[in-house]
Amino acid sequence: MLPPILSALRIPVVASPMFIVSGPELVIAQCKAGIVGSFPALNAREKDGEPPLLDAWLTRIAEELDRHNQANPDRPAAPFAVNQIVHRSNARLERDIEICHRHRVPIWITSLGARAEVNHAAHDCGGIALHDVINDVFARKAIDKGADGLIAVAAGAGGHAGPLSPFALVQEIRDWFDGPLLLSGAIATGRAVLAAQAMGADLAYVGSPFIATAEANAPEDYKRMIVDSGAMDIVTSSLFTGVSGNYLAPSIRAAGMDPDKLDSADPSSMNFGGNAAKAKAWSQIWGSGQGIGAVRDIVPAATRIDRLAAEYAAARAAICG
Ligand SMILES: Cc1cc2nc3c(=O)[nH]c(=O)nc-3n(C[C@H](O)[C@H](O)[C@H](O)COP(=O)(O)O)c2cc1C
Repeated sequence: MLPPILSALRIPVVASPMFIVSGPELVIAQCKAGIVGSFPALNAREKDGEPPLLDAWLTRIAEELDRHNQANPDRPAAPFAVNQIVHRSNARLERDIEICHRHRVPIWITSLGARAEVNHAAHDCGGIALHDVINDVFARKAIDKGADGLIAVAAGAGGHAGPLSPFALVQEIRDWFDGPLLLSGAIATGRAVLAAQAMGADLAYVGSPFIATAEANAPEDYKRMIVDSGAMDIVTSSLFTGVSGNYLAPSIRAAGMDPDKLDSADPSSMNFGGNAAKAKAWSQIWGSGQGIGAVRDIVPAATRIDRLAAEYAAARAAICG
């Protein structure tokens, strides 16, 4: 059963949070077009001594969506989500939880570790918590710790992808879990959204196609590389963050490395504490999932969502009659 907050979307899609790429412009456009928009709390980085940017972003998102809802009572905006990286190196976690709790964030997405206190904070302000997992063991742990729903991150996803086929992953989780289940990884068409539902997921979790949108906070060359690339251009490596992730091979080549000969990194090198030097060194290495063969132009997010909705309706009509 889906909680009411996830059941009134225009199409069953949650736009995934993307490091650097997702900010208020993209989230507002996604929500206004009828799907859940999201961003990582860590993207809101103020300079030393300035007030928390996360506070300002949450105020802006709430105000703009509220204005939209007053002007368009017949097609209200979808709710938004904030992603918390629950890794021990994230020194901002406690502060960011307090800010999200104060703003009564409706959907909390947690990744890289399940922590009961984050789920409690979400529930205490009336929100729900979705935890992203790459296998069934982590899925069980997340529900034990009080998450309301799961995001199954399968092979081919952008960012920190899992190694498992979506068929295997969804089947194993659905075997015992009947709560909200999202599927992540290379979903880039309305047909694929319907396929995720046929497999047993409730909603699709879509990231990389939104990099090639006007509102994404990404350099023009990155957006263009998404448009020009396909599944064969994606390489998997742990070198850049310490955990296995998917990246655009042309961006690795442009940074002077051979994408076919990358060293692997130790998971203990994972750091979300603001290692500026390392972040700068890897800023030209661009993440993407394998589904981008379906992305052929850079368009406003609303256009991408209109297309997904039209494709989804056509696929339903063709397959479900
Ligand atoms: C550039 C990029 C950055 C990402 N950053 C994050 C992040 O900060 N937090 C997170 O939970 N997931 C992150 N992800 C993973 C997405 O949440 C999601 O699992 C993925 O984008 C779905 O696969 P797709 O890109 O093939 O649609 C990122 C993905 C990409 C492509």
